[in-house]
Amino acid sequence: MSGGLLLAVESSCDETGVALLDGPRRIVAQAVASQVALHAGTGGIVPELAARAHLRWIDPALDVVLVEAGATLADVGSVAVTAGPGLVGSLLVGLAYAKALAWALDVPVVGVNHLEGHLYAAWLLDPGEIERPEPVFPLVALVVSGGHTFLVEMRDHLSYRLLGETVDDAAGEAFDKAGRLLGLGYPGGPAIAAAAADAAERTPERLPRAWLGDSFDFSFSGLKTALRRMVEFELGALGLPSAENGGRLPPPRVAALAAGFQESVVDVLATKTLRAAETTGARAIVVGGGVASNAALRDRLATGAAALGVDLVIPRPGLCTDNGAMIGAAGARRLAAGERAGLDLGVRASWPLARPAGAPASRRPPTRGAAARAYAAVRDAEADAAGRVAR
Ligand code: KG4
Ligand code: ZN
Repeated sequence: MSGGLLLAVESSCDETGVALLDGPRRIVAQAVASQVALHAGTGGIVPELAARAHLRWIDPALDVVLVEAGATLADVGSVAVTAGPGLVGSLLVGLAYAKALAWALDVPVVGVNHLEGHLYAAWLLDPGEIERPEPVFPLVALVVSGGHTFLVEMRDHLSYRLLGETVDDAAGEAFDKAGRLLGLGYPGGPAIAAAAADAAERTPERLPRAWLGDSFDFSFSGLKTALRRMVEFELGALGLPSAENGGRLPPPRVAALAAGFQESVVDVLATKTLRAAETTGARAIVVGGGVASNAALRDRLATGAAALGVDLVIPRPGLCTDNGAMIGAAGARRLAAGERAGLDLGVRASWPLARPAGAPASRRPPTRGAAARAYAAVRDAEADAAGRVAR
């Protein structure tokens, strides 16, 4: 007979995450197998390598979690798994694994949106952590990850109203690109934060901010271009090769530019999030995603939220970056709401958590001509890739 623990699996990108939860908030045990070292050499994720690494590490990750929890598979009563958005090959590994386990154990399974997981990380409690109140509604949630940046309002569980989103790069993506430009390696976020800390005693370089009027949308591509121009100009003046060809500025300049870049991103993210909380009458601000582990962003939001008199909930850094527990936190809410997936559950490479007001739920596919044939070919390929045959 199966027990009452929830087993959660995350494999959408470059971390293999497995966790056991007791109830919607409490982590019993979790393991995250990171592929950072694997992808560092190429300065970014190679999808095929990522999928293979998930396959290599998913079983050992489950073993670690079961041993740590002192549990067996008989203690698992339900399964939650990331179904998208993410890299299809990576997603498929976790999805097939989770569905097979749920089938073998004869327990329910639910597919979770990775972005919802980032948001629900704010509800998690570590093993042994003293119970603390849940984030209160209405709240404003900022998700800032490598692939996504958006602000939503939540008036209740599992319900989202999109306030704004990035119109170009995600914040994490911008950090990663800036990291490459400055020769700081991959992933850029933590490296820029560390380099910026070195500049604490110096003056950060002033870089532009894209405010996009009063909207809650974000844009980081102008900032990236400004940084690129500055770096290339300075490299040229020093007679060094371009950044692409391995040119590196002297460390004090790298530190000043990293600090200026971080300041610009943090300023826009924090200002818009605080204004969104104020204008919607939120009682709390929740932040998730890898960039939420950035200390400067956390500090800035803490000061602003205190001034506004709203609660601020940001998970510890290890729960901001990809992990299995966050998928469990969101999955538990979905299971409690009665949601169940069939074994035909597939993956979704793209899956917005919330759409702009008035946007259609999905674009109507073309019905005639070359566009329709191309669409059908892509749809079939995706369906095959997702392990289903749709005709
Ligand atoms: O949420 P996440 O682990 O994966 C995605 O779902 O994308 O986020 C990864 C992103 C990377 O772009 C990484 O550079 C960024 O989060 N990141 C940071 C920091 N730690 C990770 N960005 C800024 N400061 C950090 N300390
Ligand atoms: Zn993520």
